[in-house]
Order: sequence, then structure tokens, then C-alpha cells
Amino acid sequence: MASKHASKVVSAEEAVPELIEDPVLVKSEQEAKADAKADAKSNDTPTSVEELAGVGPATAKKLAENGYATIMALATASVAEIANIGSIGEKTAQKIIESARGALNLSFETADIVNTRRKAMSRVTTGSNELNKLLGGGMETGSMTELYGEFRSGKTQLAHQLCVCAQLPIEKGGLYDGKNPVTVAYIDTEGTFRPERIIAMAQRFELDPEATLKNIQVGRAYNSDHQMCLADKVLQTAQEKNIRVLIVDSLVSHFRAEFMGRGTLANRQQKLNQHLHALLRAAEMNNMLVIVTNQVQAKPDVFFGDPNQASGGNIVAHASQTRLKLRKSKGPLRVVQVVDSPLLPESECVFSITEAGIADE
Ligand code: GTP
Ligand code: MG
Repeated sequence: MASKHASKVVSAEEAVPELIEDPVLVKSEQEAKADAKADAKSNDTPTSVEELAGVGPATAKKLAENGYATIMALATASVAEIANIGSIGEKTAQKIIESARGALNLSFETADIVNTRRKAMSRVTTGSNELNKLLGGGMETGSMTELYGEFRSGKTQLAHQLCVCAQLPIEKGGLYDGKNPVTVAYIDTEGTFRPERIIAMAQRFELDPEATLKNIQVGRAYNSDHQMCLADKVLQTAQEKNIRVLIVDSLVSHFRAEFMGRGTLANRQQKLNQHLHALLRAAEMNNMLVIVTNQVQAKPDVFFGDPNQASGGNIVAHASQTRLKLRKSKGPLRVVQVVDSPLLPESECVFSITEAGIADE
């Protein structure tokens, strides 16, 4: 386990060439040179991160290691996020981001173009027709959906179900185009991922259980840093591995456990915000289905409305484009309520947790 957390140790000889080749890291002597190089670059339209103004090969490597492997990732990053990587610093971070934005020509676009892009979004079946109907056809790719609710309300079961359903052919409600197998990334923070459940769910849909398991990459996250690292890994390999689904089950538990007490709340929220940005980038960059689960906390000071509120506060609530609240009903039945969505009405439906997964009542 320890080796997973250990950072790579390099000898001094190995480290030196990297410092020399990167104008950003050797500031005192080579800053002017780096600036000149960066300015010279800015006349062309960059097509890779290395061609951006202010980026040398070592900086490109550092950026990629931190989840900024594409021009889009940099164009949508904040100066503070980039400045904190290695010793890039604010001035260079600003230059890199501006160059990335220029390369992508990021500005307003007309609504018909937005409409065309929205049509590229797919929907993944949930295993329950009623729930699919509630969601306007299934879970939407390209954005983040939060599943929140009390313990045993079915968050983990629904997340498992989506790992399987995403692998179905497109015509059956999945994302498989018949050529490139769909890879699912599952960040498991509580140790509740169960391959047995995947096998049972795959059999129901007549998918090969072994192949279905092989397409799911499970990352057991032992703390919040590790969780963030795994999310960055997904960003780096999304295109190469055709990762189309990212599950974080559960999103806030490590952050809550590590940042106890009010005094550290601001730090926790800042870190969580950074994590959420990585998840949102993944959703947009690779048209990914991003699902996060979240527990509820009883708030004794809430006199009106629901005293059970999702963890993580406004930061999580605002980052999730769609929020679904799950609650227990009789026996295997669970109620799902659309709490927040840019296009769905606030309504609810009932599904059942069966041996073979999520099904209708
Ligand atoms: P927490 O992670 O504790 O917050 O809960 P959760 O919302 O993730 O709950 P989860 O999805 O783990 O749901 C647990 C429920 O699923 C259990 O209460 C069972 O009723 C049901 N369940 C889990 N496995 C099976 C199974 O193999 N067969 C059937 N019929 N039900 C199952
Ligand atoms: Mg769970």
C-alpha cells in the first residue's frame, strides 16, 4: 500500500536535465530566455500543450502529471490551479492559460452550436424504465450527476448498474459503438465496490461477465489526496483508454474525515472544489458520464424543510448539473427525486433493487 503513495525518487543527475530544459523551473538565469521563447511561440496557433506560450517540455510533463494534458484542460483552468504546479508561478500560469484560450478561440458561441453539441450527448439506461423516463431517457453524458441519500438508499447499487449498462451497445442504451470497448473508471473511497454485483448485473443484460469486469478500472482511494490523484489519472488517460464513465463513490467522505472542525472548513472546501473541477473537466473533455455519490447529514438546526442535507455544502450542489435524491421505501423499493436539473421537472419515481440490479417496481 505504501508504494502507492510514495512519490517517484530520482537521482540528482536525473533531475538536473529536467531543470535545465525547462525555462519555467530555472527562473533566475533563464527567465528572459524563456520569455523570449514563449513570445516567439505565440504567433502560431498551438496544437499541443508543448506549443503553448510559456510551456517547455518539463512543464508540459508536470502539467500532464497533474491532469492538464490537453489545451482544453488548460484553457478552462484557473491561474491559481496552474501556478501551484511545480514552480510555475502566477505570471507564467496566466501566460499559459491565455495561450490555451487563444488556441481554442474560447469565446461566446451561438445557441445553435450549443444545440448541436448537446445532441452529441448520450444517455445511459439505468436498468429501470421508470427511472429512465424520469431522467428524460437515462443518465446524461458530458455532465456530472450527484446521487445523494441516506445509507442503503441504493447509491452504490445504481453506480454499479451504470458501470454495466454503459458497456451495452448504443441501441440498447449503452455507449458501446461496436468498435471501441467502453472503459469505466470507478473511484472507490469506502471499499464497497463488489465484482459479484457486476457479474450478476452483466448476466441480466447478456454481457460477458469477464469482459465486463475487464472494462472497469477500480481505484481504491485511501485518502482525499489519493482520490484527487486517481481523478487526475482518469483525465490523463481518458482518450487513450476510451474512459466514458467516471464514478466517485463516495465523493466527500475522505474530505469530511480529514478536515474535522469548523476551523478547517475553508481548506476542505477549496480542495473539494479543485477535485470537482477535475471531475467536470473529465465530463466535458471526453463526453463522460460522471456520477458522484454523497451521503446526507442530519442538520438539527433545520426547522423547516428537509433536515437531511447532502454533504459538501454549496460547492458540491453547484458543481452537480443534475442532483438526484434517493430514499428508502418498502423492502427493495427506493424513491428517486430530481432535486435540481437544468431541464428536468422536480418529480420522482420508484425503482427496485433486485438480485440482478436496478429494475422497475
Ligand atoms: P451507503 O454507502 O451506506 O451510504 O449506502 P448506499 O446508498 O450506497 O446503499 P447501497 O447501494 O449499498 O444499497 C444497499 C442495499 O442494496 C441493501 O440494503 C440491499 O437492500 C440492496 N442490495 C445490495 N446487494 C443486493 C443483492 O445482491 N440483492 C438484492 N436483492 N439487494 C441487494
Ligand atoms: Mg454506498
